[in-house]
Amino acid sequence: MARYDLVLRGGTVFDGGGAAGVTADLAIDGDRIAAIGRLAQGSGAAEIDVAGLAVAPGFIDVHTHDDRALLSQPEMAPKASQGVTTVIVGNCGISLAPMVPAGPLPPPLDLIGSAEYRYRRFADYLAALDAAPAAVNAAALVGHSTLRAGAMDRLDRPASERETEAMRERLADALEAGAIGLSSGLWYAPANAAPKAELVELARELHKAGALYTTHMRDEGDHVLESLDESFAVGREASVPVVISHHKVLGAENFGRTAETLPKIKAAMAQQPIGLDAYPYVASSTVLRAENIPRAIKILVTWSKPHPEASGRELAAVARDWGVSAEAAAERLQPAGAIYFMMSEADVRRVLAFEHTMIGSDGLPHDRHPHPRLWGTFPRVLGHYCREEKLFPLEEAVRRMTGLPAERFGLAGRGRLRPGAYADVTVFDPAAIIDRASFAEPTRPAAGIPLVLVNGQAVWRDGAATGTRPGRALRRQEMKREARSQGAA
Ligand code: ZN
Ligand code: CU
Repeated sequence: MARYDLVLRGGTVFDGGGAAGVTADLAIDGDRIAAIGRLAQGSGAAEIDVAGLAVAPGFIDVHTHDDRALLSQPEMAPKASQGVTTVIVGNCGISLAPMVPAGPLPPPLDLIGSAEYRYRRFADYLAALDAAPAAVNAAALVGHSTLRAGAMDRLDRPASERETEAMRERLADALEAGAIGLSSGLWYAPANAAPKAELVELARELHKAGALYTTHMRDEGDHVLESLDESFAVGREASVPVVISHHKVLGAENFGRTAETLPKIKAAMAQQPIGLDAYPYVASSTVLRAENIPRAIKILVTWSKPHPEASGRELAAVARDWGVSAEAAAERLQPAGAIYFMMSEADVRRVLAFEHTMIGSDGLPHDRHPHPRLWGTFPRVLGHYCREEKLFPLEEAVRRMTGLPAERFGLAGRGRLRPGAYADVTVFDPAAIIDRASFAEPTRPAAGIPLVLVNGQAVWRDGAATGTRPGRALRRQEMKREARSQGAA
């Protein structure tokens, strides 16, 4: 007699907390894990033999720009194919809500949409996710640049007291609706003129709600240490947890300096709650900006509105064809996006190897020729950096993408495999998992991930999306309730 909806039989189960894998059956009932252990044959209405495969909590992509993709590409193939079952959206200061723009939006807000900024209140965006669910779960941050664009007539100055108050009210309203925190993108023009005090003022609202602050720092190059200090200060002054987004050091003259930043982060962690995430590549990607040209070893164009044919080409080659300088070519391509090779492999490894680093893809789902991190991040960490390069054991790699981020972002009931938890489960072959997306062919799905379940339902199976869309919009208050009931159980 079947007791469970589904039993995954005989896999190596990783709990997501860092414990080594154990051979066990895993039973699912509805949207929850019902049991883990040796379960009688036939106890599942459906049973899948997963012997020899790893059974892990679904991966949590803590750094995404999937705000619109959840609605426009709801199968979320770039993520589901990697074993990702939950995405955090609204990073780098950019969120689709709450704002309805009066005119064209400045970069980088256009990375995730233009006409799609149609949610005056944050609750409207979450309701849109409820009404048209995606294949994966999503928890959402409010973007500081989005708040600025909605409250200020020009963005090249600090916000006035009245404008700050307007932003604070919208942030409070968003937190009330279920947002999990605030993100900033201080390196970008729309937020660069914001002083630390503006962020502290907004972060106080986060403190009241028990939400967190994530930041794409003002400077990831020469002044990276000062930027870390600024980020920590916002957290300290407002008493909120901080997450340093896509931690790296940029520019050849700064290569090796993660040997300074990581001990600094570690020291600060002893004083206040701090987290960080990273993606496993030596190239970054964002809007095309002329000021990056001298520092980058190589630049690839990812999209260009006036010159879509330049997508995927080297900026230098485009400039040569046109008989102009790289700066002039960048100007002609605007608005546009780019991939910048401006990190060292040694730094990428050092950040990935740091025990507190979570994994976040920072993928840009609307780019015509995207950075391969969009499709490759998680299998690259597991296949390349864990199996081939032996940067850390498999159970530790799994923890960085499951239990650790669930804890930092307050995703109660997810990120761990245990009875009562939501059945977000990724089944992969530790001997075969690998990213296949490259800079030349950036949209090739990964290999070695036969099955991905979200809330108990298969969203990716044997190399293809199933079309099922069981993802949920995760709201802060519901997760706090879940955490309390878990604590009581
Ligand atoms: Zn960023
Ligand atoms: Cu980002």
